[in-house]
Parts: sequence; C-alpha cells; structure tokens
Amino acid sequence: MKIPFNIPFISGNEVTYLNEVIGEKVFSSPGKFAKKCEKELSKITHCTDIRLTTSCTSALELAALAIEIKPKDEVILPSFTFVSSANAFALRGAKLVFVDINPKTMCLDESLLEKAITPKTKAIVLVHYAGLTENIEKVVEVCKKNNLFLIEDAAQSIDSYYKNQHLGTFGDLGCFSFHDTKNIHCGEGGSILINNKNLVKKVDVILEKGTNRAAFLAGKTDNYTWQSLGSSYGLSEINAAFLYAQLQELKLVTKKRKELYKLYQKNLLPLKQKGFIDFPESQNNHNAHIFFIKVENKIVRDQLIHHLKESGISAYFHYSPLHLSEMGKQYPFISSGKDFSKEESEKVVRLPLFYGLTENEIELVSKGIKQFFEIR
Ligand SMILES: Cc1ncc(COP(=O)(O)O)c(C=O)c1O
Repeated sequence: MKIPFNIPFISGNEVTYLNEVIGEKVFSSPGKFAKKCEKELSKITHCTDIRLTTSCTSALELAALAIEIKPKDEVILPSFTFVSSANAFALRGAKLVFVDINPKTMCLDESLLEKAITPKTKAIVLVHYAGLTENIEKVVEVCKKNNLFLIEDAAQSIDSYYKNQHLGTFGDLGCFSFHDTKNIHCGEGGSILINNKNLVKKVDVILEKGTNRAAFLAGKTDNYTWQSLGSSYGLSEINAAFLYAQLQELKLVTKKRKELYKLYQKNLLPLKQKGFIDFPESQNNHNAHIFFIKVENKIVRDQLIHHLKESGISAYFHYSPLHLSEMGKQYPFISSGKDFSKEESEKVVRLPLFYGLTENEIELVSKGIKQFFEIR
C-alpha cells in the first residue's frame, strides 16, 4: 500500500525507558513506570484513581467483575461497537440488551434508554465512537434516576473531551485502550479510571488476581490471600515503560491528528455539500481518532474502498452490528422501528489517519475520493 491505514506512533524515548526497566530488573506490575503513567493520565483526565491494564478488553472485564454482574442481570449497550464491550458482560452471564444508535453521533441513542430499562437492568455501557460523543448528561441522568452503573467504553477516547471534561470520567468506571491502532499505544494495553470511590478497593483486588496484594504492597497487611474473583489484568513494566514514552507526547500527537482531520474536512466539504458523503462536525474537543465518511450505502462503500485500494490507499469499513451477529442475535435489540446500527454501519468508510501521515498524502486520498464520485 502506498498510503497505509495506520502506522503506530513512536515517540523515540521508548528504548531509553525499556533499557531502564532492563537495568532495574522490575518487570511485573505495578512498578515505577506504571505509577508514572497513572500520574500522567491523572493530569490529563483529572481522575485520581487510575490503573493500567493489559487491554481495554481486560479493563471492561474488570469493570463487569467490579460492579458484580451476575447471571440474569441486564446490561444495556449499543449494537454498533467492538465485541469486547459485549463479551465482558456476557462472560459474567449477563443478558445483553442492545440499543440502536443515533445516526448523527453513531453512539447509543439515549432517547431509547427508558424503553430498554427493566427492573433487572444493572448497568449501561456507553461507547464513545471515534472519541466523539453527545448528550452524556442525559445518560448520566437516566443512570442516576434508575440506580444503574455507568461504564464508559472509552477505548478510542484518550485526550477526548465533552464540554471540557475528559471522556471516561462521567461514569462509575472508564475503560481505555492503548492497542497499537490507537492514538498512543504500548503494543497492547489499557487502563481503567475509577470515578466511583466505592469501587477502588474492589478494582485493586480484582486486578491482583483476586487477592489483597495491593494492600500488602502498601504495607497495610502483613500477607495477602484470595479475597474475591479476579484475574491477571495488570500491565507489565515493559509495556508501561513504552506507554510512558508515548504519554509524554500525547498533546503533540493529538495536535497533529487534528490538523490532518481538519484538512480532510476542508478537502471533502464540497462532496458533503453536494450530498455524496457525510462526515461528523462535532463541536467538542475530540482527539481525531478516526476520520470517517458515510456514503450512500454498502454497495457504494465497497466500491469506494476498492477504488482507493486500486490507487494504493488503504481505507476500511468498521464494526458490524452485534445484534445481527451469530452470537449477538440471541439478545434483544431496542430501536425506534428502524435499524440505524445496520444501515449506518454499512455506510462507514474510515480513511488513513496517523501521526506520520503527510498533508500531501491527505491530498492524494481526498483526490481519490473526489475522482470516485466524478466517474460514478
Ligand atoms: C469500542 C471498543 N472497545 C474495546 C476495544 C478493545 O480494546 P483492546 O484491543 O485494547 O482490548 C476496542 C478496540 O478497538 C473498541 O473499539
């Protein structure tokens, strides 16, 4: 491919910090670099209780354990999301209740929530697609009114804000990804923001394989034992050192991605005005994680992706709705009668966007898209 979809960011300091880990010979979690990362994440998000995890998937699984999801509990989530948002709760035996998305935001349609809630509902999982989201207040209000936990799947949302508040800090728990497809990464990694103070101790026990090792390491007990269900969710120092080098350059990464994102918006505006494509114009301060356009339908989407591929440009569709999947069709799907999760997901084309992408490459991608609509 002449223009790949993503090239993971490298800050240049990763090797220096990895050498420090090798020199100091502390490789397991939690170590010096985990603490440094947590501090850095605290500065960005203003959340004071943050733990690193091996992935966003494990942060979500940890969240499901922390809020004690049991068989028959109901968990509401959008159908247009990654499988991990669903698996984490299905693994605990929850009955999933899929809710349709708002085509404008591609996030869960909060106006359908009251219809989805039953006496068995225990939590809502809010997925901030592309680090963009709207109307969080409404979801927070519904959770408060119905005494539900709010879990934010903020996998794509590092350095994304809603009305100046960092995503992942609105709910009880916020889960982030540092997979190498994300703005910053450590190969595979994640973190959990614990906004609900009542869950801090529980999260620490679950993270330490179900033991009170965290209390032991803090000198609060003289041994540690099995306390509850748990698993091996902590991030190794090798990954934490790598992540720290990336976190230090987060602002630079966001700034560059936003410039590239704006250039796509500028170049493609004429096609939007002519009604060939659509793309979001969020007023919120987001992290430019994904630049996606929406075309007329699946046929046009596939043709456009093929056309770009012929010119050496890598563009992708995104999630297939979970309620239509082999596993997901056993669960209910709440909608207004339409199926925007299917309809809208079939229109999505994600364009190349990464730190090292040049303005010239954006021009080439934009030109390729314009050409496609001219010759159709
Ligand atoms: C919305 C969402 N949640 C969770 C995940 C899983 O993240 P990870 O790969 O860090 O487990 C992803 C992956 O991209 C995602 O898009």
